[in-house]
Amino acid sequence: MRLTATGLGHRFGEQPFLFRGLDLDLRSGRTYAVTGPSGSGKTTLLSILAGWVAPAEGEVDRGEAGTVGWVFQNPHGVHQRSALDHVVLPFLARGATRSDAEARAAVLLDDFGLAHRAETSFSALSGGEAQRLLLARGLAAAPALLLVDEPTAQLDRATSATVNDALGAAAGRDSIVVVATHDVGTRDACTDHIDMARFAVAPPS
Ligand SMILES: Nc1ncnc2c1ncn2[C@@H]1O[C@H](COP(=O)(O)OP(=O)(O)OP(=O)(O)O)[C@@H](O)[C@H]1O
Ligand SMILES: [Mg+2]
Repeated sequence: MRLTATGLGHRFGEQPFLFRGLDLDLRSGRTYAVTGPSGSGKTTLLSILAGWVAPAEGEVDRGEAGTVGWVFQNPHGVHQRSALDHVVLPFLARGATRSDAEARAAVLLDDFGLAHRAETSFSALSGGEAQRLLLARGLAAAPALLLVDEPTAQLDRATSATVNDALGAAAGRDSIVVVATHDVGTRDACTDHIDMARFAVAPPS
């Protein structure tokens, strides 16, 4: 899967442009960090890539339209369900048998440093574990495009590092992964970098 954008720019209503002139060529198997100051339009760009917000200017070409997944800043899971169940379900939804789904989910949990938490209920996971689990779940669904907004914003440095390691493990799969972040460690864990500051438009004085 490939997603391209040309001349992308956005503003809300008559407000000043947040960014202009953004060209993108995103490929599956790669992970893209979107950085820039608060308010520079990172989350807005994710919404445009998802097709939820129409850009004020420019084009987005999704090719053969694929599915879109989101991993939000505050991890939401099903409290009583085990970590393993959270990752098994997307494989089942894609048509895997239960034994196949469990085997593939176990591999993914291991990649994300959660093998020892497989049978733990979601409500008993730490913040970093829950965030890693939801990344694993997002990848298990194998969306064409996986959007991740500020995955380490709520986490301390050591816990963030484990999430960043997990993002490193997200590359090389079938999805294009785009991660909005303020965290230098997250940026460095991604294969590519989109710096919104380069596309900022100074408001007229
Ligand atoms: N639906 C909307 N209507 C009007 N303005 C909006 C809307 N959504 C976002 N904005 C404004 O657009 C600007 C960019 O918002 P956005 O959430 O994309 O920034 P961000 O780079 O993700 O910031 P942060 O790092 O704080 O998450 C902000 O000034 C925000 O207030
Ligand atoms: Mg944001």
